[in-house]
Amino acid sequence: MSSATTPTPPTKPSPPPSSVPLRALSVSTSSPRPLRLCGESSSGLPARPLLIGGTDEQCHGAYPLAMSTKPRILTGDTPTSTGLHLGHFVGSLENRLKLQDEYDCYFLIANVHAFTTLSEKPADIRANTIGIVKDWLAVGLDPKRSTFVLQSEIPAIAELTFLFAMLISFNKVMRNPTLKTEIETKGLGDTYPFGFPMYAVGQCADILAFRPELVPVGEDQEAHIEMCRDVAVKFNQLYCGVGNRVEPKDHAKAGGVFPIPAAKLGRVARLVGTDGVNKMSKSLGNAIFLYDTEKQVQKKINSIVTGRATATSPIDEKNALIQLCEAFIPADRVAEIKANYASGKEVMDGHIKAELGAAINALISPMRERRAKYETPEGEQVVLDVIRDGVKRANKVAEETLAEAKKAMKLDFLTRTIG
Ligand code: TRP
Repeated sequence: MSSATTPTPPTKPSPPPSSVPLRALSVSTSSPRPLRLCGESSSGLPARPLLIGGTDEQCHGAYPLAMSTKPRILTGDTPTSTGLHLGHFVGSLENRLKLQDEYDCYFLIANVHAFTTLSEKPADIRANTIGIVKDWLAVGLDPKRSTFVLQSEIPAIAELTFLFAMLISFNKVMRNPTLKTEIETKGLGDTYPFGFPMYAVGQCADILAFRPELVPVGEDQEAHIEMCRDVAVKFNQLYCGVGNRVEPKDHAKAGGVFPIPAAKLGRVARLVGTDGVNKMSKSLGNAIFLYDTEKQVQKKINSIVTGRATATSPIDEKNALIQLCEAFIPADRVAEIKANYASGKEVMDGHIKAELGAAINALISPMRERRAKYETPEGEQVVLDVIRDGVKRANKVAEETLAEAKKAMKLDFLTRTIG
């Protein structure tokens, strides 16, 4: 592993939880089927075999395959672009970082979903996939404590997607407000592929394949989590005999295959961009990226318009400068800044902007430095190893879930081996 992540002792192997019988499933550890991760990739990365179900020795990083007994978390990002910004940080990444110790975390790169809008650009999706893993590592997500999941290599997700698609009406999917907003903001009109609305069902499978308790996401994803909860409830009621009066929190206890997961929103629901109007977003050009240089950060903050007539005029507390101070400067100091602005004393915006810039730079400088380390051939290797190890661990969990789900649906005709 790279020195960029703090090593932690490996988790002690422990038996799988008793509620998850392994007998219906065997993940091969003897003759793994090598899959080319790169092949003739136009990204220029070296071809390395990706093993599903290989032995620990074959698994390069040799992270332990033991099942954790901690409650699980799943969340993910779609590699339609790279370049995380402060909005991502306060919306979800910060929660992921905080929860890495208490929870068994699964972080998913939704590279199949990326094809819903970028099907003609597989090389971009591939490059973005690698880029997202680098971003995560740079932020401090730790593949030794958490599992990085490459969606396209987890067959159980695709299978669950099909099964779940029977549990939700077409019209309900089409009314999903997150999908509707995306259709609008991305200008998809009525030309989007069938797979586009299907990805919302796919997201239910991404989540439920790992049977997590929590899903840390930004506000914009709440509708998807709601849909996922509906699907899980329906499944448990239809196939596991869970009564319709059972509270969502009691579903697993009542015999449901799926615990009903809850969304966990970030500390700041909607981070304003430097334009002071819109939510921070790469496409709107109002974002401060986690990998901007110190100078770029300061320049972007300096561009915020406060609209004050003189240095003693009050400031609108909804102004981007104040909102960003609220997000990145300690609360007592923000209270002081606001009081000074309100008092009619002379307050130079430039001083406050410099203070905000320094606070943001202090937060992101270590990330920027770590990110640079991954922009090397060795860095690329670390990323590919992390993906390979993650796939192996993720398939173990997802295959168990699928076996349980198929059993509940009376589809347990055969046992199967991935590998
Ligand atoms: N749709 C999410 C986004 O665009 C990414 C995602 C895919 C996801 N699968 C997920 C998020 C499962 C949480 C859980 O940001």
